Amino acid sequence: MSDIYELIRERKSVRTFDNEEVTPSQRENILSYAREIKTPYDIDVEIRILDGGMHGLSSPVIVGADTFIAGKIRQQAHAEEAFGYFFEQLVLHIQEMGLGTTWIAGTMDRKAFEEAMEVTEGEKMPCITPLGVAAEKRSVRETMMRAGIRADSRKRFDEIFFDGSAGMPLSESRYPAISKVLNAVRLAPSAVNKQPWRAVVTESGVYFYIKHDKGYVDKSGWDMQKIDMGIALCHFGLCAEADGIRTTFTLDDPELDAGGLEFIAGFIIDGGTV
Ligand SMILES: Cc1cc2nc3c(=O)[nH]c(=O)nc-3n(C[C@H](O)[C@H](O)[C@H](O)COP(=O)(O)O)c2cc1C
Repeated sequence: MSDIYELIRERKSVRTFDNEEVTPSQRENILSYAREIKTPYDIDVEIRILDGGMHGLSSPVIVGADTFIAGKIRQQAHAEEAFGYFFEQLVLHIQEMGLGTTWIAGTMDRKAFEEAMEVTEGEKMPCITPLGVAAEKRSVRETMMRAGIRADSRKRFDEIFFDGSAGMPLSESRYPAISKVLNAVRLAPSAVNKQPWRAVVTESGVYFYIKHDKGYVDKSGWDMQKIDMGIALCHFGLCAEADGIRTTFTLDDPELDAGGLEFIAGFIIDGGTV
């Protein structure tokens, strides 16, 4: 993979495509990359590349693309984070190939996509993405949408990362190597750009928490914002690895003072954060 930081910086949702076909070799490249993706959760994700015309698929926000990737996963503990971690790796790989994507959980003909994915009882199809070459100019609708959700802005470092406990904003100079990685977490995409991730950094590691917004948990307990958490964890894991920072992934709650936020997962840093 080329510079992961650059891929993360350059990735933006693409909703306006130039109608070019995705070639058979690009499809094969994506499918074979997906087969090799590993996440710390060790939960299988199945993806398929789908032709819109063949399956009657559409998304009201997408123009100029008729190829989509959809994924499905068995519903179980941590399936949302696992899906986020997996699919973001795929999205970044596709970015490296020079193609565009948009994570889509809501604005699609969900029934048609679920049928094309043959989703069965106990499975979830959390998200899809269109796949193609970005058009030179965004549609008016896309431009308005991006402005509406302030898609280019992110929360400040000291609003979301904490030093030892939730009340204490982290200064970027305290742990420079970790701060570099956390800045790549900041740039992650999230549903409606809500950025629910928070992290507390201690001398032993980096511990991620979710700050819930209302309306993202469905009747079955499926929590869409935990997909965002998986994306944030993916950015942390990939960037730490690229920088040679050795970590051990953990689901054990370190019971820090996190202001009542729900613990999601942590990375214990070999040799400590300092
Ligand atoms: C889990 C998830 C679900 C999303 N669902 C949609 C969606 O239904 N429709 C859409 O247009 N964008 C969707 N997005 C894209 C976000 O709006 C976008 O990532 C965010 O505004 C930041 O913009 P950027 O991706 O260009 O950095 C989703 C993103 C994520 C991570």
